[in-house]
Parts: sequence; C-alpha cells; structure tokens
Amino acid sequence: MDDLRRRLGELACGRRLLDATAATGGVHLVGGAVRDLLLGRVPRELDVVVEGEVLPLAAALGTAATTHERFATATVVDGDCRWDLAASRAEDYARPGALPDVRPAAIDEDLLRRDVTINAIALDLGDGRVRAVDHALEDLQAGLLRVLHDASFLDDPTRLWRIARYAARLGFELEAGTARLAVEAVAAGAAERVSGSRIGSELRLALAEPDPVAALERIAGLGLAPWLAPDRPRTEQALALLPAGEGRPDLVVLAAAIAEDEGDADQRFAGLELTAVERAVLRAAAHAPALASRALAAERPSRLARILRGVPVEAVVLAAADGASAPVARWLADLRHVGLAIDGDDLLAAGMARGPQIGRRLAATLERRLDGEIRDDREEQIADAMGGT
Ligand code: CTP
Repeated sequence: MDDLRRRLGELACGRRLLDATAATGGVHLVGGAVRDLLLGRVPRELDVVVEGEVLPLAAALGTAATTHERFATATVVDGDCRWDLAASRAEDYARPGALPDVRPAAIDEDLLRRDVTINAIALDLGDGRVRAVDHALEDLQAGLLRVLHDASFLDDPTRLWRIARYAARLGFELEAGTARLAVEAVAAGAAERVSGSRIGSELRLALAEPDPVAALERIAGLGLAPWLAPDRPRTEQALALLPAGEGRPDLVVLAAAIAEDEGDADQRFAGLELTAVERAVLRAAAHAPALASRALAAERPSRLARILRGVPVEAVVLAAADGASAPVARWLADLRHVGLAIDGDDLLAAGMARGPQIGRRLAATLERRLDGEIRDDREEQIADAMGGT
C-alpha cells in the first residue's frame, strides 16, 4: 500500500504532512481522505490521528493552530492547506445521542468508533501500512455503506444524514443490515432526536454536495425529513434560468425540494438556524406555483413587473419551472432592467410640488414605459409624468 503514501505525496498538503511526520511514529491519515485515496479520488480534507500528543505535529506543520483541549484535537491552517489533527481515542456513549465520553486509545480502537466501514481505514504515515476495520476494504470495492455496530445510528443519529450524503456522492448503497438498522432507527424516532441546528448544518452539507439533489433524494429516501420531496426536473429547470452570479443556487435546490402540502415554511424551518435572507427566500419560494399562475395571467408587461418586482430571484425561477417560463424569461432578460431616464429632481425642476405624488407619478410613468406607450426619452417622460398637473 506504499502506493497510497505516494499518491498522498502528490498533493501539496499531503506532501507537507508526510514531511512533518518523517521523524515521528504513530501518525495516521484517517477517515474520508484514506477512503478517497483508495477510490482514486482527491481527498476533500486531511484528517490525521496521532497515537500520543497532537501538539508536536501541529507545531511541525505550522503555527496557526487552534487547539481543543477536551477532545485533544488541533486544526492547523497554513495557506491553502488545512490539517485536522486528533489524538487517537475511544468514545463511550453514556446514553444514546449524548456527547461521548472520550479516553485515549490505540488506532485500532479509534477506528471502531467511526460511522461506516469505508471511513474506518487508517494509513500509517510512517510505514505505509493500512489498518481497517472488518469489511472496510471489501465494502469500498463493492460500493457499500455499512455501520460498525448495531447501535451506531442510535448513538449518533446524524450518521443517517451522513450516509445519505456518502451514498449520493459516491453512488454507494446501504448494506442490507445497515439499511434495516436505518429503517429501525428512523421508526424509533432517531431522526427527531437530532437538534434543529445540527439538522441545519447537515442540510447545508447536503446542499454543498456535487449533486445536492441526489443527496436530498437519499435523505428523503431514508425518511429523515418528511417535508422533503426533491424534484430533479423542476430543480434543473429553475437553476438553468438563475442569472449568472445572482441568487443562491443552493436555496433554489432546497426550495424546489420542499413538499408543497407541508404547510407553513416558517414553522418548518424554525430552529434550523437559517438566516433571515434564507427564510425570506424559502417563504417566497413556497408560493412559486401561485406566482406562476399570476405571472401567466398578467396581460401587460407593467402588470407582470408588479407581480415579480421584489420577489427573490430564487422564487422567480421556480415560478418559471412551475409553468411560467415565458413571462419569467421576459422579466429576467428585459423588463426588470427597464427604468426611467428621469427622477424626482426632474419633476421638481419642471415645477411639481414636493411630496408623495412625485413617487406615484414616476411609478405610473414607468408602467407606461414598460408597456411601450412612451419611449426612452427624457422630455417625453417628463411630459408624461407632469401630465394633468
Ligand atoms: N466520523 C464519524 N461519525 C461522525 C462524524 C465523523 O465516525 N458523526 C468520522 C468518520 O470516520 C469520518 C471522519 O470522522 O470519516 C471525519 O469526519 P468528516 O470530516 O465529517 O468526514 P469525511 O469522511 O472526511 O468526509 P468528507 O469526505 O465529507 O469530508
């Protein structure tokens, strides 16, 4: 398996890790990085487990170390590199779902506390030896996600969300026994025991996956979120219309996946620690089908502008996917950019009294401009706005 160390060394941050560990023993690359190297993928992050003290290795890697005493961990960030270091440890759960009690342990025991076999593989950076829990290497070959013990999901129900992401990203399936344990855990209410903020962060991770719709499909398939009903064609249609650099594609994906009959979006997302902007987008997007009907019924451009102006662009593109593609395309490409060549100062200069009527007049002139009744011409627009005064 020395091939693995060679592959690690081809990555700039991997090379630095190997150099920093040259003189120390008992340092292992673990978790997703070893899995990804074995699959021929580029690791997303480098998790390192040290049998002993983490601080000497942290110091050898760089200076910007954040250390967490309780778990004997350290994070070193230097330039584009980031290494997460942890002392080799075992975890005991006093009760399911509680934070684990941690004690130092050898690497083999450290591997046993992990979520699925394919993440429970360690590469000894000193001698290149690979250690893995039972089934790990076969599961990696066969494309299977298998928990290490029957209580795994009860100990940590967020693992259900994690395996949904791995299944989507790697195209893996749940091993039969694990699939049964997942069903049992969900039936026993494991998913409801996860706090809102943890669900929120799992949801964000799912949305950051290369294929977030696939991740949401797996989450829904496992029964973790009854309010999710991912719809790939609707999502893709909406994303295709999202103007470059505008809006949040991740929110389009999430909003497109929210089951329509799931009631009040605000209530649904309370506790997930969404930002005010995120809540506003989801609230607007929940009304995309109604927005689509109104946009389709708008008989004039000015009416369409009134319906769509101020609506978050994520909700607008969902309305397009809900049948209003022509009016939405017209709004996005053209109408929303239409403005007036004049402003309130022009009307004051022309003799209009200061007051709210200035805004009303400008708005009415803009509507006529949108409807093509007046041209992009200052004099004509001033005359139009002043008309009847
Ligand atoms: N882990 C676990 N149970 C959790 C969280 C993490 O067992 N609830 C273990 C797994 O062995 C995992 C490792 O900690 O591989 C690192 O966790 P994380 O960085 O979240 O996952 P990666 O597997 O590195 O995944 P990714 O490719 O998504 O970064």
